Amino acid sequence: MKILSLISASILCASVSVVTTADGHGKGYPFKNEIQARMNVMNLYGYYLGELGAMAKGQSPYDADAATRAANNLLAMAKLDNTTMWPQGSDNSVPALDNKTRAKPEAWTTYPEIVDKHKALITAATTMAAEAGNGLDAVRANIGAVGQSCKGCHEAFRGPKLKGHSH
Ligand code: HEC
Repeated sequence: MKILSLISASILCASVSVVTTADGHGKGYPFKNEIQARMNVMNLYGYYLGELGAMAKGQSPYDADAATRAANNLLAMAKLDNTTMWPQGSDNSVPALDNKTRAKPEAWTTYPEIVDKHKALITAATTMAAEAGNGLDAVRANIGAVGQSCKGCHEAFRGPKLKGHSH
């Protein structure tokens, strides 16, 4: 699947990224823009999954259009080409990034394992997008797989919470 090459491209192009950003975002910390951008994507994943989760748990009423919209948006986010957001050297073992990123160096050192994790999210989100409009039971039947795909990547590649952050 072509989309899935996005992370591979980011890693292969890491040296390019370093060159273009090393002095580009002088204030703050290295790769600040890239790190914040990928966190923003993650938070949008969480937003849309949260909308579906609220329906699944009965905290908000099931609505076929709303469920389909949330699922389609989650899938669109998952398919974003975020190639430039994962430059090599932007992990939590880098001293300058202490408490700035939760991305573990294993995301790069075990490459392409992270691609498989991303693929699992796209697969689960694709099914959810197809099913979400088919009733509350369909949302409930598929939300676990989406959540597991998030968890699978986080367990492997996301480190401890940042101090002073809520997530
Ligand atoms: C392919 C791997 C991968 C997948 C799949 C994935 N995540 Fe993440 N997620 C990460 C990594 C790595 C970080 C840490 C990023 C950082 O701190 O630079 C993260 C961070 C987060 C954060 C914290 C963002 C912040 O502001 O600090 C949230 C929320 C999150 N993910 C939600 C989700 C949800 C919800 C899903 C599934 C719908 C998901 N993620 C799927 C790898 C993944």
